[in-house]
Amino acid sequence: MCGIVGYVGAKAPIPILVEGLKRLEYRGYDSSGVATMNGEGKVFVHKRAGRIRDLEHSMPGECPKANVGLAHTRWATHGEPNDANSHPHLSHDEKIAVVHNGIVENHSSLRTMLMGEGVAFRSDTDTEVIPHLIARFYEGDLETAVKRALHLIQGTYGIVAMHSEEPDKLVVARNGSPIVLGVGDSEMFVASDAPALVAHTKQVVYLEDGEIAVLSPEGFRTTDLSDRTIQKDVNELDWEIEEIERGDFEHFMLKEIHEQPLSIDRGLRGRAMSDFGDAKLGGLNLDRRAFFDIKRVCLIACGTSLHAAMAASYLIEELARIPCAVEIASELRYRNPIVDANTLYFAVSQSGETADTLAAMREVRRKGGIVLGVVNVVGSTIARESDGGMYIRSGPEIAVASTKAFTSQLLALTLFALKIGRMRDLSSTAGKQLIHALNELPDQITTVLDQSDSVKEIAHSILDASYVLFLGRGGNYATALEGALKLKEVSYIQCEGFAAAEMKHGPIALIGDGTPVIFLCPRDHLRDKTLSNMEEVKARKGRIIAVCNPGDERVMALADAYIEVPETHNLLTPFLTVIPLQLIAYHAALALGLDVDKPRNLAKSVTVE
Ligand code: AGP
Ligand code: GLU
Repeated sequence: MCGIVGYVGAKAPIPILVEGLKRLEYRGYDSSGVATMNGEGKVFVHKRAGRIRDLEHSMPGECPKANVGLAHTRWATHGEPNDANSHPHLSHDEKIAVVHNGIVENHSSLRTMLMGEGVAFRSDTDTEVIPHLIARFYEGDLETAVKRALHLIQGTYGIVAMHSEEPDKLVVARNGSPIVLGVGDSEMFVASDAPALVAHTKQVVYLEDGEIAVLSPEGFRTTDLSDRTIQKDVNELDWEIEEIERGDFEHFMLKEIHEQPLSIDRGLRGRAMSDFGDAKLGGLNLDRRAFFDIKRVCLIACGTSLHAAMAASYLIEELARIPCAVEIASELRYRNPIVDANTLYFAVSQSGETADTLAAMREVRRKGGIVLGVVNVVGSTIARESDGGMYIRSGPEIAVASTKAFTSQLLALTLFALKIGRMRDLSSTAGKQLIHALNELPDQITTVLDQSDSVKEIAHSILDASYVLFLGRGGNYATALEGALKLKEVSYIQCEGFAAAEMKHGPIALIGDGTPVIFLCPRDHLRDKTLSNMEEVKARKGRIIAVCNPGDERVMALADAYIEVPETHNLLTPFLTVIPLQLIAYHAALALGLDVDKPRNLAKSVTVE
């Protein structure tokens, strides 16, 4: 959620700021704003509730000349989304502007203190205490004033501040909300996420919690709150700007669904060792001895990543014959987790910034646990704070509804399961069979994607449903949950995913005449049991939509509609059965005229609790 962009250099800042905000639109927001200098010793601010295009279209024709500026897209936590509560926020003398991602937990007491000193507040936000505090401490040096203000602030922040008397400087600070610097040629950029920078530079610096950076056209300097200098590495972004553009697709969600043959191929490259029926995973930072000591695996995640973890747990248990627990991050972090030395933990997160997953990882690590990351965004907080891990290499995922990350996370964990399995009882023959099946997935996914039109018809047939039920067994129980999450988050249709057998223990009461029930029923070892569940739905006049393998006459005879997916290894069916569910969600949302890439109330990365 929310987004930050800042610039200092020789160019006009506003076009850079607005373009940067547009690159961050996918993160979810309700208002936006920009600030530069007005050339008369004060700050020029323009901010609006609504879309960035509203901000852009209402921008004054002539903006004051400036070489420094900052901008923000807000996802409101304190104060309704309106013009006054939008960022940037100014100090009372209008010389300091601040944008902020996060929550100032002690904003009430700070507001009371500042109001007691005569400060008049203009907004209802927690953020507005920050520029007033900086002004309170300002004695000619913005960096010092910011540090003194931050010593009083409790909570999470990514902030950028500027002062009209220091118009060639930005001061940036991070504590719990991601901040990345962009290093240009005699110019500097800052953003909450790299897509806002990649059009200008691929040289980036990731700030850690507790770090402050001062940006100027000459470069950047980094210290901590106690003024200790910190050396930072400059990293190279490994993707191109085309990857964060829609290209020929109408929406990012559709583009990313269709990128899955490529993302799976990319995830396999250099990792699947066909000759040995094994996997090669650099970055786990575990020696062979440590692998033998693993007696249990625990996967920690939220949302779609949780479903990918659930699907992976079946593979880990089957291939490695060790127990694999899956934990909802927000539950684990507050449960005083019991951590043991022989459990290997994974934090599974596309963004690498999800607050609950990050907090759960930190809690497990504080208790001595080893936590590896399964992450997409290079340099993200989970990637940097974990004890090692695997990048899923799916390429930037922009749509709020996560799709290619699901299959890429599942692939990374499948390769881990293969590796640890081959160090136990899994034979090279079995390993080679699995790798052969994995190598077929890109083409098989393409086959499913080619049925997009027939899937669209099925999607249109459920638009008026008051309730949709997704049912699956084994790894496809996780796929059923994921299909329900996709549909609800982009189309707002009420739906649920369940383990198919669980239907008898309650959900069957919701099945009436014509209720759509979507079954995941590949020809695996659970097919006959799932067929029984179909019969039960049929007997209650439910409308059966089946995802099945080609030529499965028994399923097709029971189904009112079906989508065929190619046969694959029993353990790999979720890679294929999830694709139609992603497409159903997409086409349903589109047919309902909804904002597919930016569903209401949702954000791409939930960086607040
Ligand atoms: C999934 O479509 C949602 N965007 C959401 O559930 C998401 O999966 C969840 O917030 C976890 O995000 P992460 O993978 O970046 O940690
Ligand atoms: N808590 C701040 C506000 O509500 C910042 C929210 C955000 O991260 O966008 O304005």
